[in-house]
Amino acid sequence: MTILVTGGAGYIGSHTVRMLREQGKPVVVLDSMEFGHRAALLGAELVVGDIRDRALVTDLCRSHGVTQVVHFAAYKNVGESMLEPEKYWMNNVAGTVDLVEAMLAADVRDIVFSSSCSVYGTPESVPVHEDAPLHPESVYAESKATVERILGWYGVTKGLNSVSLRYFNAAGASIDATIGEDWALTLNLVPLVMKATLGRRGPVQVFGNDYPTPDGTCIRDYIHVDDLADAHIRALDHLANGRPSIALNVGTGVGSSVLDVFTATEHASGMTVPYEIIDRRAGDPVSSFADPSIVRSTLGWTARYDLGKIVESAWNWHSTHLDGYGD
Ligand code: WQD
Repeated sequence: MTILVTGGAGYIGSHTVRMLREQGKPVVVLDSMEFGHRAALLGAELVVGDIRDRALVTDLCRSHGVTQVVHFAAYKNVGESMLEPEKYWMNNVAGTVDLVEAMLAADVRDIVFSSSCSVYGTPESVPVHEDAPLHPESVYAESKATVERILGWYGVTKGLNSVSLRYFNAAGASIDATIGEDWALTLNLVPLVMKATLGRRGPVQVFGNDYPTPDGTCIRDYIHVDDLADAHIRALDHLANGRPSIALNVGTGVGSSVLDVFTATEHASGMTVPYEIIDRRAGDPVSSFADPSIVRSTLGWTARYDLGKIVESAWNWHSTHLDGYGD
């Protein structure tokens, strides 16, 4: 009955591991520790190793009685993926093939996969529905879309069951500020805003304020990391109940602008967010937010936290962990 969590010492992985354990579910984490943090595991069992090591994964599945896998382990830097694509093909794509082969060798057939809204590229319309065409616009996004398709073919050929969760903009930290995101490792908006507000970097550079949106800045669907964790656990239950493989959007359905994030941060912190407006960033969609109706009807999942709570939790974590996990 054990759940194997690859990349469980990372940002979303560690929140999912914690929630699984709080629900009394046995967990073992496989993490290379290239970017993971031991402290983020809060004592969960860790095996340091690579998803590409098939013998290790098969042994791990057999020795721990693994029945299901949540697969987070991947590289996730969009810019880097365009400069060093091989890393993304090998780790994200080939690594997943190795992981699945090793699972199947141990007769493990359920996998929940960490996918991304970036598989849609610039959405043709919002809210984004799951049947929107996939148009990856980076090697990173292509690696996620390719893995989704590979998992589908493993379903046809080998009876693998999969749920691919297409996250929108993951953000925030645990409500008790025990675990959170390592701001040294991310270029995403929310941690950058926290860093700037806490005086740990210069002003946030806003990538354009002349978009056709109410305040001129881009709109995204920010989703709390514990809401994402909850979606993974429901996806595991879905597969355990013998329900069919599926790809689901995981977002709140609410779009927030860059300036909305600043306003929420100022409310949570009582401080001013320093920022400057610069040119648009190439490839930024003007607006992207989920239609969450299928995830709601399929998994019974709905987001509990709004932007205010996301930003407040991020503030509480970063302002008390200025050096992250200190490792
Ligand atoms: C958010 C908003 C920027 C930084 C990324 C990945 C995507 C998926 C979701 C994982 C945008 C603006 C940002 C800054 C800014 N992740 N911004 N100044 O690009 O929506 O999506 O996360 O799968 O693959 O690319 O996230 O946090 O970079 O940007 O103005 O310094 O903040 O323009 O509107 P993005 P982001």
